Amino acid sequence: MPYRIAPSLLSADFARLGEEVRAVIAAGADLIHFDVMDNHYVPNLTIGPLVCDAIRPHSSVPIDVHLMVEPVDRLIPDFAKAGANIITFHPEASQHIDRTLGLIRDQGCQAGLVFNPATPLHYLDYVMDKLDMVLLMSVNPGFGGQSFIPGTLEKIRQVRQRLDAHTARGGQAIALEVDGGIKIDNIRAVAAAGADTFVAGSAIFGQPDYVSIIQAMRTELEQ
Ligand code: DX5
Ligand code: ZN
Repeated sequence: MPYRIAPSLLSADFARLGEEVRAVIAAGADLIHFDVMDNHYVPNLTIGPLVCDAIRPHSSVPIDVHLMVEPVDRLIPDFAKAGANIITFHPEASQHIDRTLGLIRDQGCQAGLVFNPATPLHYLDYVMDKLDMVLLMSVNPGFGGQSFIPGTLEKIRQVRQRLDAHTARGGQAIALEVDGGIKIDNIRAVAAAGADTFVAGSAIFGQPDYVSIIQAMRTELEQ
């Protein structure tokens, strides 16, 4: 799977979101990562389907909605209508993981599970055929600008093995996205461990020039 860079809007200027979306896409973003927090599953509150709908006309790339909410299911049709392309959720926040994955795909979106740093991988066991993406958190969810937890690298390798074994058995390709604390100085190691999709919030939006930072990340990945 080709490498994809997914700027997280969490660190964008919320007063100018449409402009920010267009600017990172012009700078080479492959996906727009959209963090939804509910002040219940995580101790922070962000944006919902109305904002997804508002940025949709500004985005020529897929919108990657990361749901940090509990319960999960009732928001899925709203996000699908608002133009989400990928919807991921935390398995421990859903009562019925298989049903939630089915609901996402039935709404025409790609579906994925998100694992916190200490969430066990056994949630993957019976649903591999229903996944388009696995998202590994390399920080605890809730805030941008935290430091990458180094133990995540081993977890990325473990998921990579499972995904490769799945495709070797004839299963579909599943993207492996990593989220939290990704910077220019660790993106190469994250890729080497097996990730193909990289969320970066503060590393991109914290820079005045989105073109140079995204290009520098790609150069690191091509090493
Ligand atoms: C954290 C969010 C991340 C966050 C990443 O809960 O899921 O997407 O925006 O921000 P950085 O790249 O600053 O760690
Ligand atoms: Zn996220």
